[in-house]
Amino acid sequence: MRILGIETSCDETGIAVYDDKQGLLSHELYSQVKLHADYGGVVPELASRDHVRKIIPLIEKALADANTTSDQIDGVAFTQGPGLVGALLVGSSVGRSLAYAWNVPAVGVHHMEGHLLAPMLESSAPEFPFVALLVSGGHSMLVKVDAIGEYEVLGESIDDAAGEAFDKTAKLLGLDYPGGPLLAKLAEKGEPGHYKFPRPMTDRPGLDFSFSGLKTFAANTIRDADTSEQTKANIAYAFQEAVVDTLIIKCRRALKQTGMKRLVIAGGVSANTQLRAQMQALMTELKGEVFYPSLAYCTDNGAMIAYAGMQRLKAGQTVELSAQAKPRWPLDSLSGL
Ligand code: KG4
Ligand code: ZN
Repeated sequence: MRILGIETSCDETGIAVYDDKQGLLSHELYSQVKLHADYGGVVPELASRDHVRKIIPLIEKALADANTTSDQIDGVAFTQGPGLVGALLVGSSVGRSLAYAWNVPAVGVHHMEGHLLAPMLESSAPEFPFVALLVSGGHSMLVKVDAIGEYEVLGESIDDAAGEAFDKTAKLLGLDYPGGPLLAKLAEKGEPGHYKFPRPMTDRPGLDFSFSGLKTFAANTIRDADTSEQTKANIAYAFQEAVVDTLIIKCRRALKQTGMKRLVIAGGVSANTQLRAQMQALMTELKGEVFYPSLAYCTDNGAMIAYAGMQRLKAGQTVELSAQAKPRWPLDSLSGL
């Protein structure tokens, strides 16, 4: 079976063709980063319009690269939510229209399920069950994953997501949008020991996160500091160290609570080198294993939507052509296969 996957929940148009026997056949990505950079963040209306411009040429290219004609497609998967409603509407309208025109089922995929299953695209994919740390620009959560669709949210951010904290702190340091990867790069030049950021909510039990205090702490630190590049790098270093440390503490707790030995890290922030290195060290210490998607599938992409869509398609979990986009859609409301 072969499926077309469409991702348009935020500022990336991602398209992929996935075959259940041959794996990923093609994937295309257009990032709107430059379009939004002048505004320091995603402008929803501009995002929707750019998806409209890019989606059809990208679908044509993905099909051509996969050597696939429309009559070889058995289903069309699109990100149904959560995300920006206007952006979601583009992918969901095009996805459902193609399903109608090609006379195949449409599959509505949960964006975070896509992130969570992205490591399954790798040759060494994790087995169920596992604990997943999902850290993206819009969400931070720890999830107990027993099987596809069997998700128990163990904890989540009560305010900013981890990626959002990275982006806001980067902006305070004068870096462009999205600042997460730029802040990580700046931190490489930082020296330890100059600043000590708090580790929010680690001094009490539970698995929820809070990152907005770190941004405030960064704002105050930057206000009182000199403006040299080295000082900025030292602040970036201390900020990243605090986020990574906090995530490590919570993952350690979640693994202990569930008795699990497998950890999956996904979402944009899982591209962070320090986070990967520290998580690897944690799992070596705990004699467990850690899994990530390859870098191309950490941030938003069509491949993860095609993969998740294929699992739902095979289980007959398709949607009506009248299905609505779901800007808010709790992950644990999904059902199993
Ligand atoms: O998953 P994603 O592409 O979009 C959402 O679904 O939100 O995640 C994007 C987020 C942004 O906040 C970006 O700054 C962050 O992931 N990010 C990083 C790194 N690469 C991307 N944060 C820290 N270090 C990185 N290397
Ligand atoms: Zn995402």
